[in-house]
Amino acid sequence: MNFFVTTPIYYINGDPHIGHAYADIAADVIARFKRFDGFEVHFCTGTDEHGIKVAGSAAKSGTNVHEFSDLMSQKFRDMGKILNISSDDFIRTTEERHRKSAQTLWKMMEKDIYKGVYSGWYSARDEEYVPESEIKDGKAPSGAPVERIEEESYFFKLSAYGEKLLEHYEKNPDFIAPASGRNEIVNFVKSGLKDLSISRSKFDWGIPIPGAEGHVMYVWVDALANYITSLGFPDNPDRVSAMMSECVHIIGKEILRFHAVYWPAFLMSAGLTLPKRIFAHGWWTCEGQKMSKSVGNVVDPFPLVRECGPDRLRYFLFREVRFGEDGDFSAEALKNRVSYDLANDLGNLVQRVLAFIQKSDGRFSVSYDFSEKERDLFEKARKLTVKMRPLIDRQDLHGALGVVWDLVAESNKFVNDAEPWKLVKTDSERLKAVLTALCESIRAIAFGIAPFMPETAGKIFGFMNITGQSFKEIEADFTDQRFPSPSPLFPKEN
Ligand code: MSP
Repeated sequence: MNFFVTTPIYYINGDPHIGHAYADIAADVIARFKRFDGFEVHFCTGTDEHGIKVAGSAAKSGTNVHEFSDLMSQKFRDMGKILNISSDDFIRTTEERHRKSAQTLWKMMEKDIYKGVYSGWYSARDEEYVPESEIKDGKAPSGAPVERIEEESYFFKLSAYGEKLLEHYEKNPDFIAPASGRNEIVNFVKSGLKDLSISRSKFDWGIPIPGAEGHVMYVWVDALANYITSLGFPDNPDRVSAMMSECVHIIGKEILRFHAVYWPAFLMSAGLTLPKRIFAHGWWTCEGQKMSKSVGNVVDPFPLVRECGPDRLRYFLFREVRFGEDGDFSAEALKNRVSYDLANDLGNLVQRVLAFIQKSDGRFSVSYDFSEKERDLFEKARKLTVKMRPLIDRQDLHGALGVVWDLVAESNKFVNDAEPWKLVKTDSERLKAVLTALCESIRAIAFGIAPFMPETAGKIFGFMNITGQSFKEIEADFTDQRFPSPSPLFPKEN
């Protein structure tokens, strides 16, 4: 069973921020869930290093563009490390393997490529050609400045792909999500596609076009090819095809058009397999305001994770907002989520049950001789990841966390109702059954949170002598054993 998940590759003209962290964590949660579920996963991320914008930033900083790229790309790699991202590949578009891949893709698309002259507007900030009709007050729709360019350029016959794309969307209703993004793309394609300029000749920071001296690839052709480079393209065609057909691209909403229109058209032209799904997430603001360097309110993941660790942030980003919608980041909202959901609900549940077992010399005596209430909790626990599976497959990460927290709430209520501290004096058989049901539930919760909060889950696995490798472990019955002493999951100091 194959599974392939990707993040966008990040422009290196600025430092990593919470928006980049968001896609990294989302793809990581999905990749981890699939691995627990027994899939052969390939998860790739990386940096998008060519184009006029990066060349300009390097020049401004007074460094050579190669050194600049090395330095900036490393920052994104470091961000992955501190966030506990389990990617299998980190791709840089300046690597040799990528040049080979992008140039091969170009050659495979050659029947749809012709030479002409591009005369029109270009937004360097968005690395995007802007049609005259979309220019407002002399600016691109994103607000970025545009420049008039006229240059000899190669064009891709995108106009020939409108019908084929619409047919693909129709036959594969899950190809683009969420629905708002799908509608936007269908309308865009229906309104008629123009051929796309796919080369630049005014600068040379890009991948040379095979057989056309002086031309480099338009950065988006180069960038989109990263996904197949990571699979080993142009080698291993069978693997490329098998993985692409199970591929989910996680991207931000403003780059949906590139992924849902241009990319499938390029792949169709080259005769390659299309991805299974493209999911466009929303944008984060900070304390109610758009993040911007000039306002100085860009959320930097490095100090944040240094202060609170990766798990609190990873939890917050997917619990606070439905994945696919916009959200607002604030220190207060993060603090509340940590103290209510994590420390109070989850932390206390684990702590009080496992500490209770510790009190009776750490020995956990098991009984599956359940009454109705215990059986109910047990069955919910055993079904937790089964319930999460279809949600994760729709990238409803918020919904999946919601299902875990329903079980956390039920388990807390179960402890309050069962009152094990009384049973210890009155009914030791019942006590065993109550604790067994609770341990079943805590184990399932640990697996449920593991893709989101790997460190925290790892601690719980440790408290319960569980290896924590596969969801299959949820199905094993507990046996009498001794548990090590638990320590607080979310200590106040960090
Ligand atoms: N290099 C292109 C992607 C090429 S993929 C073949 C690019 N890079 S980017 O660095 O500008 O953006 C990377 C991602 O960060 C995008 O998906 C974008 O949506 C996301 N975000 C940037 N700011 C964001 C927020 N404020 N909130 C959430 N995500 C945002 O585009």
